[in-house]
Amino acid sequence: MIKFVVLTLFNDMFTSFLNTSIIKRSIEAGKLSVELIDIRDFSGFKNKKVDDTPYGGGNGMVISAEPVAKAIDFALTLIKDLECEIIYMSPRGNLLNYNMCKEFSDGCSNKAYILICGHYEGIDERVLEEYNIKEVSIGDYVLTGGEIAAMVFIDSVTRLVPGIITEGSLIDESHTNKLLEYPQYTKPSVFRGRKVPEVLLSGHDKNITEYRHKKSLELTLKNRPDLLK
Ligand SMILES: C[S@@+](CC[C@H](N)C(=O)[O-])C[C@H]1O[C@@H](n2cnc3c(N)ncnc32)[C@H](O)[C@@H]1O
Repeated sequence: MIKFVVLTLFNDMFTSFLNTSIIKRSIEAGKLSVELIDIRDFSGFKNKKVDDTPYGGGNGMVISAEPVAKAIDFALTLIKDLECEIIYMSPRGNLLNYNMCKEFSDGCSNKAYILICGHYEGIDERVLEEYNIKEVSIGDYVLTGGEIAAMVFIDSVTRLVPGIITEGSLIDESHTNKLLEYPQYTKPSVFRGRKVPEVLLSGHDKNITEYRHKKSLELTLKNRPDLLK
């Protein structure tokens, strides 16, 4: 079982994610646990305000340290004796890639992750220092909030946990071996005059493997030559 506790201001964004496909089935099978904590529940104000203006001036609002810290303390009580890492989804963080997902999923049976979703201009830096929080980015762009990034993190790490998806599906998947996956086809064998490559209909395993490897290389060279360096 891999466990995630997500600190967010927008719980509702996770409803469909947690109730769909592999994520839903993994939760039902007891292989994945995702708990959502609303940072506003730790606001301390009647109106549940959690943000304030930035010291030093500037645009926007910043999520205050105290409610986030209290939400983390509460999340830690849910983790109990599991090994735990706290991660702030942030455009300033290390860029998430396949190797990082693999590391996060390794030894997951006794691991838990607390994922913090920021909003506005982000969260007060002192919380990051106080809890020694790692920052992880899902790309070199800025999202409105960390929720989509947290979903990307949960999804990409969970699918690498043994037993979540069929082992075979992972073998040739894009990025597993530095290559992008070869093109896939299904029935019918002719679509608007476009035929499935003959070799895939041949039943000749060795030729099919060679063809797919060649196509993987071609695609990687064309779309992501940086992966071959
Ligand atoms: C509008 S952004 C704040 C951006 C921040 N002012 C900056 O320039 O670094 C609000 C929140 O979205 C999340 N976020 C935005 N872009 C992200 C990315 N590329 N990866 C992960 N989280 C991201 C973070 O949690 C962030 O606190």
